[in-house]
Amino acid sequence: MRFIFSNLMKLNKYFVIDFDSTFTKVEAFDVLADISLQDHPEREDRKKQIIQITNQGMDGSISFRESLEKRLNLLAPSQHHLPALITKLKGSVSESFKRNKEFFQQYSDNIYIISNGFKEFIEPIVTEFGIKPENILANEFKFDKDGKVIGFDVENPLSANGGKVEQLKKLNLPGDIYVIGDGYTDYEIKHAGLANKFFAFTENVERENVKSKADHITPSLDEFLYLNKLNTAISYPKNRINVLLLENVHPIAVELLKAEGFNVETYHAAMTEEELIQKIKNVSVLGIRSKTQVTARVLEHANRLMVIGAFCIGTNQIDLKEATKKGIAVFNAPFSNTRSVVELAVAEMIILMRNISDKSTKMHKGVWDKSAKGSFEVRGKKLGLIGYGNIGTQLSVIAESLGMKVFYYDTEERLSLGNAVKCKTMNEVLEQADVISMHVDGRKSNANLIGTKEFSVMKQGVIFINLSRGHVVDIQALRENILSGKVAGCAIDVFPYEPVSNDEEFMSELRGLPNTILTPHIGGSTLEAQENIGNFVPSKMMDYINTGSTSNSVNFPNLTLPILKDAHRLIHIHNNVPGILAKINQLLADHGINIVGQYLKTNELVGYVITDINKHYDKEVIAKLRAIENTIKFRVLY
Ligand code: NAI
Repeated sequence: MRFIFSNLMKLNKYFVIDFDSTFTKVEAFDVLADISLQDHPEREDRKKQIIQITNQGMDGSISFRESLEKRLNLLAPSQHHLPALITKLKGSVSESFKRNKEFFQQYSDNIYIISNGFKEFIEPIVTEFGIKPENILANEFKFDKDGKVIGFDVENPLSANGGKVEQLKKLNLPGDIYVIGDGYTDYEIKHAGLANKFFAFTENVERENVKSKADHITPSLDEFLYLNKLNTAISYPKNRINVLLLENVHPIAVELLKAEGFNVETYHAAMTEEELIQKIKNVSVLGIRSKTQVTARVLEHANRLMVIGAFCIGTNQIDLKEATKKGIAVFNAPFSNTRSVVELAVAEMIILMRNISDKSTKMHKGVWDKSAKGSFEVRGKKLGLIGYGNIGTQLSVIAESLGMKVFYYDTEERLSLGNAVKCKTMNEVLEQADVISMHVDGRKSNANLIGTKEFSVMKQGVIFINLSRGHVVDIQALRENILSGKVAGCAIDVFPYEPVSNDEEFMSELRGLPNTILTPHIGGSTLEAQENIGNFVPSKMMDYINTGSTSNSVNFPNLTLPILKDAHRLIHIHNNVPGILAKINQLLADHGINIVGQYLKTNELVGYVITDINKHYDKEVIAKLRAIENTIKFRVLY
């Protein structure tokens, strides 16, 4: 660090940074208006006037000083408004500034804040980042004895037109000056010949007249630091990482990825293979739902792709083997709709036990059939669960709270929750349950898991529910058992063949059967589930990009990693052949590099090694690590 610092001093560079909408996401006066005019009867009217006056000041129809006076009159601020304003502004610091706190601390001698705002609220925000109070150039309030703002220091150049230019002249900094800001007055410093470069900062607002004048447009501070080779917090600016989100993924996902600083592009539909091949070349992060086919051909062209997020449960639309071989991690949302499926199962159990489906159909036909015959409570009944995974276990807990006795069978060793009773065989469950609910996964060997033989061991009048996968139940056998009365009611959400679109007719031997609820594979389809998916998948993808963590990845060895502290993290993905770890460690040892943590996991195709090393290292070693035979992908996190 010291080395970089002295290097900079030699370079004599100064960074002049704007405050409103640059250092913070907001304009401080807007926030102040919300506070000082909170209970004012003319609040809305005054806010409108303030906007008009700001615009007049900007277009030159009144002087800046006049605009400042008029706005302060309308705002009527007092000393006692300041703590609330400061708290709000502290919570509104731009995301990329927060990420790069270290930059401000490291180069504090070379950083100036310049603003037409006021020191009283700027100083508490920026000094927390290590910026020196004497390097803050801003206006100052004048208060009366009661703390009311009665004006400002008119001697301060920043209270007048061209204030930023005047201030810079006075400063007379002895080196290259780089200005970063979102406004025209920031550009004016460069225009006046007082700065070498002007960087238009667009993280919070974008103004075309400012962008068109800039030497560089920087969508975040990361980009500014990267361009000037000053980056310390992150290895590569996120705005240079292209994210492509297809099939209208939930807006929350778009928001989350944009807030992280990525360059996000969205598309409302799936893309064809050809379209995706064209597009994928520059994409590092791909988000899809179930319709986009990520084939081996697509992946062949995906040389920058690091991660694919499937905003759904299934991942068979992705060629997982090819993705793995190319070192592309895939994530999905396996639990985001668990609760939705469970709630539907609970509702259906109750509805079927009361024969409501038939009763409701009759009512629509005008038949009043009031009777308690064949209607039961679920309380005290035995629920048999086949498959005790995410859904099975959650249903188990809720069913118990309804007073049911739960029995389950799973091929894997699964811990029993609550008072649920584990059974050694499936038949043990089938023989005693009043309600049977299927929650196994869709593996091929589960085809016709429930057929004639299995129905024969069930109790007379059993209720049968399948919300898992269509091929798990022999539909013909189910039909026969409904017609014979052995099965008193059933609810089926998934079918061996399902229509590909809403235009296709649904064909099934189950249509028209008594006490039979048929639903179009909507067990997990709720708005809450969609929102959960929109939150979950981006969080997994960002974790992977930011820390290398692969927990819950569908195709990568799962590693949950600690947050990186005072170290560099080397992320190495390689073909799973023997001896790679030894080669990595030998190289590091040869260069005298100290390993502070190391994690390795493999699957049948790839090995995933994370090595945290202490901060000082020889750059040459990176090239050598990349060159190790069988390396698929390699990246460094700062
Ligand atoms: P999971 O993978 O957490 O649990 C499945 C469980 O079934 C595992 O514990 C597994 O060991 C067990 N299993 C597999 N084969 C078995 C067998 N032959 N006998 C006994 N146990 C067996 O899956 P999760 O999340 O609980 O989902 C369960 C099913 O629900 C899946 O088939 C999934 O596709 C389906 N699903 C359906 C939805 C819908 O809209 N209807 C929505 C979400 C999931």
